[in-house]
Amino acid sequence: MEKLKVGVIGGTGMVGQRFVSLLAEHPWFQLTVIAASARSAGKTYEQAVGSRWALEVPMPEMARGIVVKNAVDDMAEIAAQVDLVFSAVDMKKEEIRDLEEAYAKLECPVVSNNSAHRWTPDVPMVVPEINPEHLEVIPAQRRRLGTKRGFIAVKSNCSLQSYVPALHPLKDEFGLNKVLVCTYQAISGAGKTFETWPEMVDNIIPYIGGEEEKSEQEPMKLWGKVSDGRIENAAAPSITAQCLRVPCSNGHMAAVFASFDRKPSKEEILARWAAFSGRPQQLNLPSAPKQFLHYFEEDNRPQTKLDRSLEGGMAVSIGRLRPDTQYDYKFVCLSHNTLRGAAGGGVLLAELLRAEGWLDR
Ligand SMILES: NC(=O)c1ccc[n+]([C@@H]2O[C@H](COP(=O)([O-])OP(=O)(O)OC[C@H]3O[C@@H](n4cnc5c(N)ncnc54)[C@H](OP(=O)(O)O)[C@@H]3O)[C@@H](O)[C@H]2O)c1
Repeated sequence: MEKLKVGVIGGTGMVGQRFVSLLAEHPWFQLTVIAASARSAGKTYEQAVGSRWALEVPMPEMARGIVVKNAVDDMAEIAAQVDLVFSAVDMKKEEIRDLEEAYAKLECPVVSNNSAHRWTPDVPMVVPEINPEHLEVIPAQRRRLGTKRGFIAVKSNCSLQSYVPALHPLKDEFGLNKVLVCTYQAISGAGKTFETWPEMVDNIIPYIGGEEEKSEQEPMKLWGKVSDGRIENAAAPSITAQCLRVPCSNGHMAAVFASFDRKPSKEEILARWAAFSGRPQQLNLPSAPKQFLHYFEEDNRPQTKLDRSLEGGMAVSIGRLRPDTQYDYKFVCLSHNTLRGAAGGGVLLAELLRAEGWLDR
């Protein structure tokens, strides 16, 4: 299979670095363009990132010498050179919305990590194991944009990548109706390390701007239905969330409480989790974890440091399932926020798009 040429806009940032490292040796995609702000444009990737390299793996050799382009000023040139761009820019929301739409209108599909288009009704927001069928809105989006090939597809917020996958296989069969979730989110989710955010050592901050709203509302779009070229959001379950920033480098943990119309047994829940697989597993996509949901029997697992990198950081870990006094059950889940929750989720979405023909010329 010939590799598709891809670019990363916002490639110098925290999420962009993950994209670069995942794409450097990807079997289906060839990283040919990295773009960022005017501050980085014209420098080699190595110079532009400098001491900001934040990953535990070294910067890929093939990326070091790539001369960074300006994501805005060089847009037409970039769109002509690649088959797809991944977007990880950090700009004002309206600027991101316009930038991503401009790439799409230049017939360059965009897979975005940003929230700017998550609520655009004809933009699919996809966790590939959960709602791959939402890609069916792409033709309607193309009609609105006046494009033949260009479109935008987005991934959802990193906070919900642990608990929504765990709830998904239970939702319809047992009538999931009420969810309470507290998240414990790593500092890389704010684009930070302990070096750049020393105040987070030995500290917890009980506020992450906009995160609780996203955690409560975005699952409703993921669980929505395609109707007339747009996504109609689900009406249930009702979700309430508190999101805390905790002193971990990577990995978002969630403590979840859930109630159902038809309360399942513990064995039924464990069986649904063990058996669950989605389209990425069926299509054997290169970044898909073999087992999406892993249940740990040990009372002290999953742990952020031990378990966040399970299956390349693309699997979700679950543990401590037990009855609750106010809800039917409680349990904890964990996912890697910059892999499954950001760049890895974006790459998996692009693999799904390719496998299903949405990137064909
Ligand atoms: N970190 C996470 O875990 C996470 C998870 C989900 C979503 N997100 C979202 O993903 C986006 C990126 O997050 P991040 O943590 O990677 O941010 P970051 O480390 O601050 O990186 C921001 C990137 O955007 C570029 N940029 C900034 N202003 C620009 C402009 N005017 N024109 C073109 N490029 C510009 C920067 O380029 P320069 O290097 O040249 O300044 C850099 O490449 C944000 O919208 C964030 O909310 C992050």
